[in-house]
Amino acid sequence: MSHTIQGFSKLSKEEKINWLTQNFLSQNPQAESILKQYWNTDSNLQQLHDEFIENTVTNYYLPLGIAPNFVINNKTFAIPMAIEESSVVAAASKAAKFWMSRGGFKAEILGTEKIGQVHFIYSGAESELKALFEASKAELLADLKPLTQSMEKRGGGITGLQLISKTEALEHYYQLHVTFETLDAMGANFINTCLEQLSESWQRIFASWSSKTENTTLQVVMSILSNYVPGCVVRAEVNCAVGELSEADGIDPQEFAEKFVQAVRIAEVEPYRAVTHNKGIMNGIDAVVLATGNDFRAIEAGAHAYAAKDGLYSSLTHAEISNDQFRFWIEIPLALGTVGGLTKLHPLVKLNLEMLGNPSAPQLMEIIAVAGLAQNFGAVKSLTTTGIQKGHMKMHLMNMLNLLEATKTEKEQAISHFKTHKVSHNAVQQFMEGLRNTVEK
Ligand code: MEV
Repeated sequence: MSHTIQGFSKLSKEEKINWLTQNFLSQNPQAESILKQYWNTDSNLQQLHDEFIENTVTNYYLPLGIAPNFVINNKTFAIPMAIEESSVVAAASKAAKFWMSRGGFKAEILGTEKIGQVHFIYSGAESELKALFEASKAELLADLKPLTQSMEKRGGGITGLQLISKTEALEHYYQLHVTFETLDAMGANFINTCLEQLSESWQRIFASWSSKTENTTLQVVMSILSNYVPGCVVRAEVNCAVGELSEADGIDPQEFAEKFVQAVRIAEVEPYRAVTHNKGIMNGIDAVVLATGNDFRAIEAGAHAYAAKDGLYSSLTHAEISNDQFRFWIEIPLALGTVGGLTKLHPLVKLNLEMLGNPSAPQLMEIIAVAGLAQNFGAVKSLTTTGIQKGHMKMHLMNMLNLLEATKTEKEQAISHFKTHKVSHNAVQQFMEGLRNTVEK
């Protein structure tokens, strides 16, 4: 077939780009220079990035912004956020500033347990399997010692090992369910290495047992960590007297608080709203997860699963008014690491962690949960008062001006004009046309 290739990974970066531009970008004479424009001039730094993944041809930039003024458990943070969406960093900063003068954010860890499973199919009597597991549990754990020893020295390791029957859901399906404490590591490699060893030991033990018994079979299907971590959860909260919620916008604080709580209740009971509500939370969470070199896909998967834990996809945040106190909180699973992975390898990640005071993984869980809560506060506040578009389009103005290739002066004029005018694609286009026509005349 045309445009297919064998051995692409063996080509040099230059050769990969040549092949790509010839086969898939031949209509674009600038393709090569656009790709190369994003190369770092420091060849060592570029090589470092090239080697993070496979078949690298260039770098893909995301802006790194800072949301200052986050007071969390009485300590102040400037939070790094890597994200492409306008308004997110501004909304986080605004919410941080709002709560800074109302006691700040409080955060606490509810648990740090990680989970992994060896999934297998077993054809014999369940009681015999249970007996075999109980008899060999110590041996299984002993086999894992060489892998867990150093984690144990630091206070972590395997915290539980169970045999679970899933035969009601799927015929002959069982699992070894393992819980872990991985301290400051996200732990994916540690967990998966332990699980593969466990699978090997379990099959060995089974083989020696089954050779003495009837015709039973055990087949391990897979061994892998779970990104659903309902035992690795952090809670973050803000609260203040309802009367303190007033701001320049001239909104009655009681009315605002009630409408805000109502909006959160809607997200609790209505999945269509809950998904968007939680998406807004993840705007804040993912941006800090990315900036600190963590795996945002794992975080996303775990967060949405947690949002559906009671059988109905629901809000990750909650709010109430009780005794004239407004309380708004989030509970979210966050399997994060501050050691391992990219944390020491990527210079910007390293710097971002330093900016946050080189937090432990639980401390980073607190910071990131707060970023999510702040983001949600900003979104729901806008939605229930001015609407989201007013602020969003203002932030998006720069993207529109850049698309129209506005000069520095044109941008300044546009920004000043749209301080008092409604921003829309049409309005910006017309304003720019007007500006350019006047200059031409
Ligand atoms: C946009 O990225 C996020 C929001 O839609 C979140 C929300 O609706 O709560 C504004």
